[in-house]
Amino acid sequence: MTTPNQAPITFELKPSANPLPAVERAARLTNPGFGRIFTDHMVTIRWTEGRGWHDAQLTPYAPLEMDPANMTLHYGQSIFEGLKAYRQPDGSVATFRPEANAERFQNSARRLAMPELPTETFVKAVELLVQQERDWVPSEPEQSLYLRPFMFATEVGLGVRPANEFLFMIIASPAGAYFPGGVQPVSVWLSEDYVRAAPGGTGAAKCAGNYAASLVAQAQAAAKGCDQVVWLDAAEHKWVEEMGGMNLYFVYGEGDDARIVTPALSGALLPGITRASLLTMAADLGHTTEERRISTDEWKQGNADGTLTEVFACGTAAVITPVGSVKSEGGDWTVGAGEPGPVTLKFRKALLDLQGGHAADPHGWMHPIV
Ligand code: PLP
Ligand code: COI
Repeated sequence: MTTPNQAPITFELKPSANPLPAVERAARLTNPGFGRIFTDHMVTIRWTEGRGWHDAQLTPYAPLEMDPANMTLHYGQSIFEGLKAYRQPDGSVATFRPEANAERFQNSARRLAMPELPTETFVKAVELLVQQERDWVPSEPEQSLYLRPFMFATEVGLGVRPANEFLFMIIASPAGAYFPGGVQPVSVWLSEDYVRAAPGGTGAAKCAGNYAASLVAQAQAAAKGCDQVVWLDAAEHKWVEEMGGMNLYFVYGEGDDARIVTPALSGALLPGITRASLLTMAADLGHTTEERRISTDEWKQGNADGTLTEVFACGTAAVITPVGSVKSEGGDWTVGAGEPGPVTLKFRKALLDLQGGHAADPHGWMHPIV
């Protein structure tokens, strides 16, 4: 959905008269976990058919009032993004590739028949919220301020069709490690009973329904004693796609000669920004990269004969997390030594150093918030 004659967006800033006192904020920042606490403010922008984007505001964080017949509650026109703001060594704050999130958000919107928020407005909204919440950006290693842009239908009615009113929002949540174990390897269950996405479906969109549909498979993985579910393709249940809310990487060989392989974007995978960044970083670090299909047989065989040395998952929330063991209907096995591997740790450090401002940024990915 595009909007004709869209007027330029200006934001009205209405900051809270009583934000959380510094002492209480500091207490909340000591052990933030993931997605449990929220900052003092939020951004909202409305869209209506014919008028386009309007009424952009930064306001105190507050609950929303919703009509029971709100179309999102019934038909799920709801998409989101995830990106982080990182404290830099000089005390400033920067986000990582927000334009890439803006672009993916537009792609998600198109797939869900929702209006596309211009990149410039998306990035401006991120900047305004982070500027306002600068003091909420933690400074301990591996901590950050997780930003959650999202958009959902606000029209009231039960007809099944694209809504004619939407609300875009951004909220912010200080974040520590996504997995409580930190950089410990996770165990995975290869899901054959459930699929995340099928050709022609919504797998490449970051829409709420994909996550709702994943929960029963994640519960099954937990029942099998695993931390995470690994999704296989819908047709043959044979080709590895991704893991929970993260993309996967397979490391062949060792040291500087290691080859880095990730499942090709088939239309069913979410095109992760971390995934894309690591492909570029791997090439910078002198590693050969491949995007192709990887079967569960290749995974099992590669670990058995030692050619596949490491597997790791990557995403904004989880950064880079080693995969230590696999369980499936076809057997269980250990990945490498079952420990975080050297290539995994090298990439993890390179990514965290870049995002934390401890390494050069040759591709201009860091977006300073001034
Ligand atoms: N795959 C899924 C299903 C996800 O939810 C995410 C998280 O956003 C990713 C992959 C990784 O994407 P990104 O690296 O952009 O965070
Ligand atoms: C992210 O990494 O930003 C995600 O969206 C993954 C999960 C928290 C849904």
